[in-house]
Amino acid sequence: MGCSLKPTEVIQSVLAGRTFQPAKAEGKAFAPVNIALCKYWGKRDTALNLPVTSSLSMSLGAIGAHTRIAPVDGPDQVWLNDEKLTDADPFVSRLRAYLDLFDPAQHYTIHTASDVPVAAGLASSASGFAALVLALDDLYGWSLDPTSLSILARLGSGSACRSIYQGFVEWQAGEQADGMDSYAVRLDADWPALRIGWIECSSAPKPIGSRAGMKRTVETSALYAAWPDQVARDLAAIKQAIAQHDFEALGSAAESNALAMHATMWAARPPVSYWLPETVVTLRAVWQAREQGLPVYATMDAGPNVKLLYLADDRERIRAAFPQLHEVSPA
Ligand code: PMV
Repeated sequence: MGCSLKPTEVIQSVLAGRTFQPAKAEGKAFAPVNIALCKYWGKRDTALNLPVTSSLSMSLGAIGAHTRIAPVDGPDQVWLNDEKLTDADPFVSRLRAYLDLFDPAQHYTIHTASDVPVAAGLASSASGFAALVLALDDLYGWSLDPTSLSILARLGSGSACRSIYQGFVEWQAGEQADGMDSYAVRLDADWPALRIGWIECSSAPKPIGSRAGMKRTVETSALYAAWPDQVARDLAAIKQAIAQHDFEALGSAAESNALAMHATMWAARPPVSYWLPETVVTLRAVWQAREQGLPVYATMDAGPNVKLLYLADDRERIRAAFPQLHEVSPA
């Protein structure tokens, strides 16, 4: 439906005449990591990061990316966790490519502190791009509404559009070719007892980025044809489970959704696999714990690490079963 736009045209349309005149010396922002319970895997438009399906995530409260940005005359200067990065660093080229969409002539000093290892499948790019958009909005005093911020964040990394919000967030896939109806919304739901923790299986950079992994899956995986129907079922089940605080229903739909997403990847040619032996060991430990009566479910993203879903009341038993668990307590 409608006409496709270039990313620069989307930005112009969203900014609607706002300028690049700084309102202050430095823009500052925080955005949370989000973990998808129903995953986004596959694009219908690669330039605009428009997804094939909707997805649903939970944001992780105070865990995320803190970004400061200030205009500079010379070349870009980028610090990640207090380490200055060289121009050759992929993180710098990705940031630059994104900032070029706004104004190729403007350079910046950017400081980002990430609470999670970058590029390890813990959604650091989602919180990173969301924090960057929020920091630009702060620097230039644009005062954009959350929907506009979500659309801008999506252009950096699809899942970043969900990190504009805390809580449970649905990224509505939309139908328009220009993607103006493809953005995240916060669900009117709350579940303070629901917990997400993660088990680090490796902090090494992943073998293939999510962008290339998705593309190869969509283009070559025989199982991808089944994915949109799976998402439609899981999304409905997960929303209902959230509304009813039904943990078993939530956990089983979320775990099955993550495994099905990875199955589409394994069926790609050549296969896309983010799993390490430790990933399988951890998954089996989760299944065994569940068989023994512990309510715990797993989900995984484009990386080897495993996230656990559990309830606050089971925290002590979960900690005893998984001593290596990093707990997070979303707001
Ligand atoms: O936004 P990207 O390109 O980093 O893709 C993220 C995709 C997954 O993390 C695997 C799933 C999701 O919905 O977050």
